[in-house]
Amino acid sequence: MALTPPSERIWWRQPIAKIELIWIFVAFTWGVLMFFMMIYWHGAGEQNLSNEAYQIKPKVFAEKAQKMIDEYTVREENGFPVVRPPAGSDVYLIARLWQWWPVLELEKDQSYRLHLSSMDWQHGFSLQPVNINVQVHPGYEIVMTVKPDRAGEYGLICNEFCGIGHHNMVGKIHVVE
Ligand code: CUA
Repeated sequence: MALTPPSERIWWRQPIAKIELIWIFVAFTWGVLMFFMMIYWHGAGEQNLSNEAYQIKPKVFAEKAQKMIDEYTVREENGFPVVRPPAGSDVYLIARLWQWWPVLELEKDQSYRLHLSSMDWQHGFSLQPVNINVQVHPGYEIVMTVKPDRAGEYGLICNEFCGIGHHNMVGKIHVVE
């Protein structure tokens, strides 16, 4: 019966089978290797950005974004303001159900401080076709120094499932010469 204690008190002191030792070694070595790969890819990979994170209330973030939009909107595109902030400035991108707001227009070879935050749920910033991915949470802003090096039109999709409109959550960034 399950409630009967084992006859020997120290029942677990058994020699480890060789095959189990091999697997422990393989798993441990792999784990250590992958740990150092995280650090390696941060520098050598092209998808992991060095970002900063700060706490911020969604309302405060929205106000900062709106201020930028009011100041630097240059035209409209499908109902979205296209904002062209000056080089070197702080640029805000709002993630919310279900859009990236606004459309940004950045200059090639200029650097910007890009701030990302969510107004509601978790979203996933995924820049296409370069495949740069950042998780976006409400209550936090992720800040990255970005310097686009190729002109063109970049698509933004949401890669964290955020409900019924998730697949419609697309945005755009223009990089101009
Ligand atoms: Cu936002 Cu999925």
